[in-house]
Amino acid sequence: MRPDDDNMRHFKRYLVTSALPYANGPLHIGHLAGAYLSADVYVRFQRLMGKDILFICGSDEHGAAITIKAMKEGLSPQEIVDKYHTLFEDTFQKMGISFDIYHRTSSPLHHETSQSFFKKLYDKKEFSEQESEQYFDEKAGQFLADRYIKGNCPKCNFDGAYGDQCENCGTSLSPNELIHPKSMLSGETPVLKKTKHWYLPLDKYEGWLREWIETGYLNHKEYHDPNDWKNHVLGQCKSWLDSGLQPRAMTRDLDWGVDVPHQIPGHEGKKLYVWMDAPIGYISATKQWALDHKKDWKKYWQSEDSALIHFIGKDNIVFHCLIFPAILKAHGDYILPFNVPANQFMNLEGDKISTSRNWAVWVHEYLEDIPNKQDELRYTMIKNMPEQKDSEFTWKGYQDAVNNELVNNLANFVNRVVVLTHKFYGGKVPKFDEGAEFTGPEDQYEDSYHDSEMLRLYDDIYEVTQSIREYKFKDALKGLMEISSKGNQILQFNEPWKTIKDEPERVKAVMNLVLQYTAAIRVLIYPFLPFTSDKITAILQLPPLKQNGDLVKMMNALSEGKPVIKAGHVIGDPNHLFTKIDDEVISEQIQKLQQKEKMKDGNKVDEHKHEPVKETIQFEDFQKIDLRIATIVAAEAVPKADKLLKLSLNLGFETRTVVSGIAQHYKPEELIGKQVVLVANLAHVL
Ligand code: 2FM
Ligand code: ZN
Repeated sequence: MRPDDDNMRHFKRYLVTSALPYANGPLHIGHLAGAYLSADVYVRFQRLMGKDILFICGSDEHGAAITIKAMKEGLSPQEIVDKYHTLFEDTFQKMGISFDIYHRTSSPLHHETSQSFFKKLYDKKEFSEQESEQYFDEKAGQFLADRYIKGNCPKCNFDGAYGDQCENCGTSLSPNELIHPKSMLSGETPVLKKTKHWYLPLDKYEGWLREWIETGYLNHKEYHDPNDWKNHVLGQCKSWLDSGLQPRAMTRDLDWGVDVPHQIPGHEGKKLYVWMDAPIGYISATKQWALDHKKDWKKYWQSEDSALIHFIGKDNIVFHCLIFPAILKAHGDYILPFNVPANQFMNLEGDKISTSRNWAVWVHEYLEDIPNKQDELRYTMIKNMPEQKDSEFTWKGYQDAVNNELVNNLANFVNRVVVLTHKFYGGKVPKFDEGAEFTGPEDQYEDSYHDSEMLRLYDDIYEVTQSIREYKFKDALKGLMEISSKGNQILQFNEPWKTIKDEPERVKAVMNLVLQYTAAIRVLIYPFLPFTSDKITAILQLPPLKQNGDLVKMMNALSEGKPVIKAGHVIGDPNHLFTKIDDEVISEQIQKLQQKEKMKDGNKVDEHKHEPVKETIQFEDFQKIDLRIATIVAAEAVPKADKLLKLSLNLGFETRTVVSGIAQHYKPEELIGKQVVLVANLAHVL
């Protein structure tokens, strides 16, 4: 097990991207958990392994998401993107997301890059030109972007579905599927009008896309191993492919975005489709970085020995696994993604995060409300990362993670080691007698206690590195915390504070060992909790990590039986790494959310209307249901069940008692006298 034993040794460099966030609103914890923190852990780790790795991101500043926000706020699109781009840069930087460049798609370099890319595809005759009928707002005098049209969803009948997607049931739509479409510009019913666009013939690429995704091979060349891809990512790709890909328009009739290159006849009034220009934003950002650092951007994008890895949320899978690869291949000079380790969604306190309902923890507000606790949030987010399925953030969970794990395990371990080192040896890492034999908690040791524990440390570190390589960041973090627990166990087993008098030689070996653990944790923790790593560096008075191979060097040293921190080195004063989060902090945050919940209550009727309509049933099924109107005559909370209310219902001829899962929406006293519909012949549910 060499430290760099992985399946990627043939790659000379890595290009890691995080989804470019739309500059139309602040970042919430769901964004962070989805595409940024995961990428940051991965990149920081690979830097520690000495890899040539470039971490790219920037603001996505085009598309209807931006112009709609501008319209709502009464600002120009440029003002909107400037505002959020600045906020994003600041938030990412404060959270320690270590991009090599944070660029933006409104930059001239990006406009040029995406235009020349488009022109190349046009010249290669990759596009098909098609005329179609699109919705046009006669009052506003313009064609309508999909997002500018609202109507009823054909699937669930939700009345606020957009022309591209129903946010209630998640179905992807095209505007002409909407029932009762209305323009969001004028509120009028739009009319269909002919327009011409350039289409990417995804139907023609379906064959090779399927081969590439499912087998990892293309034209007998291996691109990736599908076993390394997450199941839910492969599953989503397969389901798109199985339902048949359609040609997709790569241009739009808009006035905000990248112009269709002016050399192309018919370009007037046309802009690139935002999903054509945004991923090319990764390329233009790389170009800008290369200009700034006098490097060659092409090596990262056009060389077979580079690995391209996209970190995204699950809503972006189709664009990164099918559409962007198709664009790259149509161009011809580019590599295809090696992996797309998309995350699922993070929910908040039992409900979906929703920007429109303000049901979110905004990262810039967290940084203000609970200052200097970036690593506490990083820890909780990584611990609950939605790697394979949707996950959940709760404030109580955050408090428990900080108080029980970071304070009681990690901070406690490091503090004990530092305090004892000062107490016993004036802060000097003790030298111990390597020949001396001591027993440890496990009976059988081939080597000395110290050596055995050092080997175990190496193995445990190796496990963590493997998990990171496999994008299993939750497991990796758990592995790291277990190393700290083992450090605590070593102290607990040996009780140096008791044995220092009678067994000073043994205590030297034990203290040397736990100092090695502490010094190793400082390096291994860096990808996850970089601010904490810096604090340990200061406490141990070690030179800062250079981020260019520190971990691989440390693992090599460990595997050769060399120390991570040398005997004789003098460490600094103790300093608590973490402090407990008080109940008040948590209740303030919960209250803040409840304020939002109240606002949500204002929309209660709407929300209920938005419940998806269930599967169609037959008339015979319907006939079986005995529906009665009943009046609520008494209501009370059910002890120990925070979602349930016990209701007494007067049906006119009898009174029934039922329980209903509405306690989080209604107070019992609000319900008295209200009428409800009761399924009078529903069997008892146990
Ligand atoms: O979903 C989003 O927020 C998009 N702005 C992501 C774009 S990723 C990339 F392709 F630029
Ligand atoms: Zn719907």
